Amino acid sequence: MWRATVLTLFPEMFPGPLGVSLAGRGLAAGVWALEARDIRDSATDRHRSVDDTPAGGGPGMVLRADVLAAAIDAVDAQSDRPRLVMSPRGRPLTQARVAELAAGPGPLIVCGRFEGIDQRVIDARQLEEVSIGDYVLSGGEIAAMALIDACVRLLPGVMGKLESSTDESFSAGLLEYPQYTRPQLFEGRPIPEILVSGDHAKVAAWRQSEAEALTQARRPDLWAARPAAKGPAKGESRKTPKNATDG
Ligand code: ADE
Repeated sequence: MWRATVLTLFPEMFPGPLGVSLAGRGLAAGVWALEARDIRDSATDRHRSVDDTPAGGGPGMVLRADVLAAAIDAVDAQSDRPRLVMSPRGRPLTQARVAELAAGPGPLIVCGRFEGIDQRVIDARQLEEVSIGDYVLSGGEIAAMALIDACVRLLPGVMGKLESSTDESFSAGLLEYPQYTRPQLFEGRPIPEILVSGDHAKVAAWRQSEAEALTQARRPDLWAARPAAKGPAKGESRKTPKNATDG
């Protein structure tokens, strides 16, 4: 079973939002497992201290290498699971990395707090630093939840294939086209004519061009890097996503 193990100073934050909706139903159904472990349980002194002042001076506190290493080793001694640490310094998380993580046994995720964690434990335990965006959260827990949520929704049995097409569109390097539903007229704004025409080919072409326009305008980086730029021509049919086996 796919399992996320989270090392945190705030295990009570979990499952939190992962306990409701799609992820929560999967968790309750045993499709995946979540283990939140308290780093403080690996402290060795009588004050159970986990952090100390930064070597060289400066503000804040740094998570101790020995305590965190002991917490990692207690989980992970002989496992080949990916070991991640959530950090704004990390490589930005992508849907491609999410898909890899979802396809594996599930990660061990260290959540940083304070000013950071001792670099030696990152090196010695070969932690992969992962960022969820260029902004600073007060700790790695919410970032870990975002990563886990993104993985869990790809697990077989968590979501149907309809929704998976969204990932496919994102993986193809485009933002999603706009969606509409009833009422037909909302505050004087009608649903675009084409979408109520019943012409499926025209609908598909309209969605493709909306997605392209949106991506060009909002994400020139994605637009420049999109696989479609080198791969299949516009309008060509796309492959079915690997995980779309559970209807
Ligand atoms: N911890 C604090 N900020 C973060 C971010 N942007 N991504 C991942 N982990 C973090």
